[in-house]
Amino acid sequence: MDAFKYTNGLLCCDGHSITDIANQFGTPTYVYSARAFREFYGALRDAFAALNPRICYSIKSCHNVHILQTLLECGSSFDAVSIGEVRRALEAGANAADIVFAGVGKTPDEIKAAVELGVGTFNAESAMELDVIASVANKARKNVRAALRINPDVDAKTHPHTTTGKDENKFGIEIGSSRALFQKHKDDAFLSLVGIHLHIGSPVNTVEPYVEMVTKALELVDQLKTDGLTIDSINIGGGFGIEYGHQASASAADYAKAIVPLLQDSGFKVSLEPGRSISANAGILVSRVVYLKQSRTKQFVIIDGAMTDLIRPALYDAYHFAWPVVPKDGMTPTDRSPAFRIEGATPVDIVGPVCESSDYLGRNRFIPPVKQGDLIAVFSAGAYGAVMSSQYNSRNRAAEVLVDENGPRLIRRRETFDDMMACEREV
Ligand code: LLP
Repeated sequence: MDAFKYTNGLLCCDGHSITDIANQFGTPTYVYSARAFREFYGALRDAFAALNPRICYSIKSCHNVHILQTLLECGSSFDAVSIGEVRRALEAGANAADIVFAGVGKTPDEIKAAVELGVGTFNAESAMELDVIASVANKARKNVRAALRINPDVDAKTHPHTTTGKDENKFGIEIGSSRALFQKHKDDAFLSLVGIHLHIGSPVNTVEPYVEMVTKALELVDQLKTDGLTIDSINIGGGFGIEYGHQASASAADYAKAIVPLLQDSGFKVSLEPGRSISANAGILVSRVVYLKQSRTKQFVIIDGAMTDLIRPALYDAYHFAWPVVPKDGMTPTDRSPAFRIEGATPVDIVGPVCESSDYLGRNRFIPPVKQGDLIAVFSAGAYGAVMSSQYNSRNRAAEVLVDENGPRLIRRRETFDDMMACEREV
């Protein structure tokens, strides 16, 4: 599916002109397709149907409450990693019972608030955290369900910043010590530690690390059985890759084909925590060209979007395909990869106005010629885009627009100078 398509020489989101959206709402602006969110969610649900999994959309990837509502309508549950994300899900209308609360450093206050709100499952990551959850549950006299996040020491073969399942990563509990923890909590009055949680990184573009991780988890379950303990659920996390244009990724069907047979007869309730695979290709960042400039060795296209809007290139050297919204002579992109060349043209760096040399959205790109005032779309920006934006250089965060059956609508207004100053003035 492709929500963002060139039609008659101009980029549209589900038939709505991106130029019109940019003219109406200004730039930089994130534009999302509700249809795309639904279809990517549906693709995972269908691929994994044999497991009838609970799909807990990972809020952190794109947390706008209107988008959470769109996913809620699809039947989604939610993966939250702070009490703020728990509250976002509730604000969208989710049931607390359909929220899993993960995170390596949930504070006792967050745990207390989440227990009071009735959050469905806690994904615990340390012995000390389990003690806090047990004690909060006891005091509140509320039954709390928890899963233990296992660190399976599996290499997800992704960026070191987003690898989470290796021994040296801060996440989860090493398999060897997990047995003792399950033992320790088996008779807790209000805490039921009955699940296993895994998440080894993001994006994980191949299926093998999942197979390795699930296999290790199932071995642990067998050991726990011999210890007389019962596990009723397994949450295999998120991390499914998507097509950014620079490297191939397994599809939802590929992941399912490898994972489903391992879990199909296990009798476990299975959960998934996909973020990127639902949100990334459901959104683009639209910016306007402010200036063009030529150095001795480089040609720069300076746009009004920046690393403050989309930090992934600066932070992970991540690749995002970029192309003019109304390309000269209607040139449509035939190849989204970094290897793409235009005969006789000079490559450009697409950069923002922030005072950092790492403030770029694309480097050495062959794009059709652009002029001042033209619009450029940065693709696959729905995941870890708006959510990781900042006010660095005192820039206002971008607006967000959602295109649905009724057309484009603003789902987050552009921040203002007064928004930015509020926390400093109200002291
Ligand atoms: N579950 C857990 C426990 C996670 O830590 C994450 C992501 C997910 C699920 C969702 O993973 P996804 O399906 O979205 O790959 N900022 C980075 C990605 C950080 C991912 C953090 N955890 C980026 O821009 O690539």
